Amino acid sequence: MGKLKALDKNLNLTDKRIILRVDLNVPMLEGKVTDKSRINKVIPIIKEFTKKKAKVILISHLGRPKGKIDEKLSLKPIAPILENLLNSKVYFSNKSYGSTVIEKSNEIKSGEVLLLENVRFNREEESNEGNFAKELAKIGDIYVNEAFSCSHRAHASVCEITKYIDSYAGKLLFEEVNAINMLTNKAEKPISCIIGGSKISTKIGILSNLVKKMQTIVIVGAMANNFIKYKGHKIGKSLFEKNQENLLKDIIKKCATNNCKLILPEDVIVAKSFKSESKLKSLNKIDDTDLILDIGENTVNKIYKIIDESKTILWNGPAGYFELEKFSTGSNKIAKKITENTKNKSLTSIAGGGDTIAAINKFGCSNGFTYISTAGGAFLELLEGKILPGIKVLEINE
Ligand code: 3PG
Ligand code: MG
Repeated sequence: MGKLKALDKNLNLTDKRIILRVDLNVPMLEGKVTDKSRINKVIPIIKEFTKKKAKVILISHLGRPKGKIDEKLSLKPIAPILENLLNSKVYFSNKSYGSTVIEKSNEIKSGEVLLLENVRFNREEESNEGNFAKELAKIGDIYVNEAFSCSHRAHASVCEITKYIDSYAGKLLFEEVNAINMLTNKAEKPISCIIGGSKISTKIGILSNLVKKMQTIVIVGAMANNFIKYKGHKIGKSLFEKNQENLLKDIIKKCATNNCKLILPEDVIVAKSFKSESKLKSLNKIDDTDLILDIGENTVNKIYKIIDESKTILWNGPAGYFELEKFSTGSNKIAKKITENTKNKSLTSIAGGGDTIAAINKFGCSNGFTYISTAGGAFLELLEGKILPGIKVLEINE
């Protein structure tokens, strides 16, 4: 990775409009934020700019609305939370670009904040469109990327925008990249990776590259459903990614040739719906009406053994639908076991991802890890050795 462009500490920012690309993609349940970690993390950064009398324009996405307006994914509920934490005025704009937004960005007083609506309500964001990026760039004088967790996305507010405005890598972005690089470059073997969560499409491709760097890969959560199905078991109504057979075959083959152990669930917790009773089942007992929502006890014990054998553990993605108590056991036990070993056996542990952080916080383990990153997918891609598009555009061309 080349050197990244950093903002000069002594630059006079008075009345300058700073576009801060942040990641306010926080876990929500029925319109309420269930974990504020990602918000808390950017508060000191925003404060630094407001103290310097800048006008701060916040751009973020929430969820995956796929270019359409979806009220459930509005960033509006985040504005009062920010206002409360920042102790300064936060305006919300229900548009994320255009003349009214530009006007508002000029109108707000220095030291005030303007939060723009979910940038992914615009189709052009994900297609990284030039004209759209140009419009976004008009809302500020300087652009700072503080969303390391989005930097694996070649999207307009992360990549293309940097062509049209003076752009810099933010302090948090530097910190995260450095911490992950440092910890993973000197990582002691055996290194194990626990991958779960529901973003199957994001992570499934990453697996085949991670195989070369890990001694063990543990697959849990919705990610595992693909493998369970591939092995010939029923997965009922569970989440899975279609047409991935060749990729799965390749991952399994690569694990064998690279001497990487692949650990899959042996038993699972199922239910007929989120609301109905949960049941422990072995894989061959899963039926067409089941939903797999957590890993079972035998699987947990197997993971305990892997954690005990490891010198370095990387964890991204919960083991089940931990938001509900009855499906939280797997994630809870993983979090507690890693915490215990990090404290007693000097295990190096790195966790990342919005939901993973939420789970870790919920189980009271936030002090139990060597490092916790805000990023999930970006963290895994950095680990793979990939050049992240959002970081590439901030490199100094020498
Ligand atoms: C994340 O939660 O990992 C980031 O906010 C990126 O979200 P995405 O996977 O929907 O691009
Ligand atoms: Mg996420």
